[in-house]
Amino acid sequence: MTNKYIYFIANWKMYGDLKSVNSLNKVINFTKKYKKKKFKLIYCPPYTLLESFYKKIKRTKIELGGQNCHFEPSSGPYTGSISPTMLKKTGAKHVILGHSENRNEGETEQQINKKINSSVKCGLKVILCIGETLVQKKKKKTKQILLRQIIKGLYKIKNLNNITIAYEPVWSIGTGVVPSNHELEKNIKTIRNILKKNIKFKRPKVLYGGSVNIKNIRNLARIKDIDGFLIGGASQNAKKFIDIVKKTII
Ligand code: 13P
Repeated sequence: MTNKYIYFIANWKMYGDLKSVNSLNKVINFTKKYKKKKFKLIYCPPYTLLESFYKKIKRTKIELGGQNCHFEPSSGPYTGSISPTMLKKTGAKHVILGHSENRNEGETEQQINKKINSSVKCGLKVILCIGETLVQKKKKKTKQILLRQIIKGLYKIKNLNNITIAYEPVWSIGTGVVPSNHELEKNIKTIRNILKKNIKFKRPKVLYGGSVNIKNIRNLARIKDIDGFLIGGASQNAKKFIDIVKKTII
């Protein structure tokens, strides 16, 4: 791990209802107790809960993010979509883009790039998810995939300091399988090299995501050069989420 701020981003995916807002109480108390420690918590609940979450966390150090948005910056005839401006107005400061669950449903590199562009222009910080599938890994195409996703996703994006990269190998999402430390270190290094050499992004934050849980976090936290974690399933349970943070920073 680096000795900078460590990020813990809770991606709630399509889970949660109004009652789940109360689970934040425990997490808020935890952040107060450990306010001197260097960590940041960001909650990304479904759109329907953004405002309720914001009410709960607005006077705390916890920040809010969306899980996706449309590439149209403000408004337009896009049924079922939310714009970056709308996200911002809920109190969100961040947005997750390029998640493999959306890429898998047909989201293209070009759309992701347009979404990143509008989001940054609207003042949101972007968490760009990248990662190879199992088939790509087996065909030894990981580096090629990471290169393509980074170059296409960040094409002509200015203000790179508003971008955080989340390396999420598709085969480790929701499977309980995580890469070995060696493999993860190697891929994080590859990502940093691509960012530095190909797009002159010198000091990026790079997170890991995929089956992070209370059992594997101690081991994952040993990995060099990771700025934090993007956590799905385990982040919906306040106690588990807090334990993950504790095991990393305390
Ligand atoms: P899990 O932690 O449930 O594997 O999900 C990871 C993820 O997709 C976070 O964006």
